[in-house]
Amino acid sequence: LGWAAALLLASFLLGSIPFGYWIGCCRGIDLRTEGSGNIGATNAWRVLGARWGCWIFLLDFVKGALPTGVGLYLSGTQSVPIADALGSLAGLASILGHNFTPWLRGRGGKGIATSAGVLLALVPWAFLVLVGIWGSLFLLCRIVSMASLGAALVFPIATGLLYPGRWVLLAFSLLASSLAILRHRSNIRRLIQGTEARFRRNGGKDL
Ligand code: G3P
Repeated sequence: LGWAAALLLASFLLGSIPFGYWIGCCRGIDLRTEGSGNIGATNAWRVLGARWGCWIFLLDFVKGALPTGVGLYLSGTQSVPIADALGSLAGLASILGHNFTPWLRGRGGKGIATSAGVLLALVPWAFLVLVGIWGSLFLLCRIVSMASLGAALVFPIATGLLYPGRWVLLAFSLLASSLAILRHRSNIRRLIQGTEARFRRNGGKDL
C-alpha cells in the first residue's frame, strides 16, 4: 500500500505543474489575466499563439497519461478491478493536481488536456470516441468549451457501453465528467449569455 500512496502523491505533484502558467510567465504574459483567464492549452493558444497552445496541450496531456500508465503497469498481473482502481486513482490525482494546483494557491485549470491523457491510458476506446465527439462539436460551433462539455457528458455513457461490467471505470468516468463540467461553470454562464469566445476559421483568434 505504501507504493500506491507514493504513486498517488507523485501523480498529484506531476499534475500540479502549471505548464501553461509558467510558459506564459516566461513569455511575459500572465494567462490568468488574459482571454478566458484559464491556464490551459485553449487560452494559451488564444493568447500566446498556436505553437505554445500545442506545446501546453502536449505537456498537460502527458501529466495525465504518464501516471495513469504507471499505475496500470504497477498493478501488473493483479485483478482487473485493482488495475482499474489504481489507474483511475492515479489519473484522478493528476487531474486534481492540475485543477487545484498548490503552485497557484489551488486555482488551477479545467483539466481537459490532462483528462484526455488519462483517458488514452485508461480507456483508449472511450478516448477515441470522445476525440470524435470533441472534434465534431468543435468543427460545428468553433467553441472549445462546448466541445469539451459535450465530450464530458458523453464520457460516462461511452465508458458504460464500451467497458461493460467495469464498475470502477464507470465510477471514475462519472467523477471525471462531473469535475470537468463543474470546472466549466464560467464557460456555461457565457454560453447561455451567448458571449463565449469562438475560434475563427482563419487564424484561430477568438472573438
Ligand atoms: O480545456 C478548457 C476549454 O474547454 C475551455 O477553455 O480557455 O475557453 O475557458 P477556455
